[in-house]
Amino acid sequence: MNPTLETRILPAGTAAVTAAVRTLAAGGLVAFPTETVYGLGADAANPAAIARLYQAKGRPAFNPLIAHVGDLTAARKIARFDAAALKLAEAFWPGPLTLVLPKSENCVVADLATAGLDTVAVRVPAHAIARDILRAFGGPVVAPSANLSGHVSPTDAAHVESDLAGRIDLIVDGGPVEVGVESTIVGCFEQPMLLRPGGVPREDIERVLGRALPQPPQEAESDGAQPLAPGMLASHYAPRTRVRLNADSVAPGEALLTFGLHRLHGEDDAVAIMNLSPNSDLAEAAANLFGYLRALDARGATTIAVMPIPNEGLGEAINDRLRRAAVGRA
Ligand code: TXA
Ligand code: MG
Repeated sequence: MNPTLETRILPAGTAAVTAAVRTLAAGGLVAFPTETVYGLGADAANPAAIARLYQAKGRPAFNPLIAHVGDLTAARKIARFDAAALKLAEAFWPGPLTLVLPKSENCVVADLATAGLDTVAVRVPAHAIARDILRAFGGPVVAPSANLSGHVSPTDAAHVESDLAGRIDLIVDGGPVEVGVESTIVGCFEQPMLLRPGGVPREDIERVLGRALPQPPQEAESDGAQPLAPGMLASHYAPRTRVRLNADSVAPGEALLTFGLHRLHGEDDAVAIMNLSPNSDLAEAAANLFGYLRALDARGATTIAVMPIPNEGLGEAINDRLRRAAVGRA
């Protein structure tokens, strides 16, 4: 790892797209905005670039990556779609949905990026600058969230810079992202399964499929085989400060992450208060979640107390990320 790499930061635009494509083609690492969170991109066909990417993030190499492509045609070059997968791609792409599919015969995505699995995770992001980069680059780009492994995912370019400056080649600054939580991951096995709740609410996917979306068996119930979504380590989206869920009051020394207009006992003495959405709008709460966790993490509180968030729509993804934050770092 070369910690003294010079990280260029360019505003989103034509010059940034050109620089991003050149850097990717040369095996470099480029952070770029997607509608969910910022991604850290590398050429999916270049094992050396992918090795560098794992190193820059400090990420365990058994955790496979999502291949990002510009459209469905490009996706069909690397993965096999059955009828259900096609339905989902047509309904939600471009957008915050990732499909885990069998690799195609000529799939160019390196084994290192899929952690040796015979499936590949594929997504067509909706963000204009991401699509411009993907179309101009031509091949698939693997991109995990552009943060150090175990940290909160970045929702603006400053978050990326604070985690990865000196470790990557380029940051394309497209301002704050729209969705704020990562893509929903659906495994298209014999029967589609929800591997990770995210930016597309479960209910929308179930409506398109015309049936309920089961979750895979928990790791404890499986026979110790490789988990279906190996990245779903219990502790993942962790701030340094302890996180306490379902708070109905605030203790001295605690910071508060709140939602809606309901006030909590002790809230006037909180070290800091941030409201995910005073209007109880779950989309607004998702967009604010990671940025507010980072901001509260910097306030020196003993604990970040979090109010209960409704578990419907985008609330399922928000609660999933909050539970992981509460587990703390291993
Ligand atoms: O919104 C997003 O999905 C963002 C943006 C940048 O696109 N990316 C993202 O990537 O969240 P990452 O690497 O943080 O999460 C990818 C998840 C991991 O949990 C990983 O285990 C899972 O996808 N995954 C990747 N390939 C898989 C596969 N073949 N089978 C099962 N799970 C897979
Ligand atoms: Mg991540």
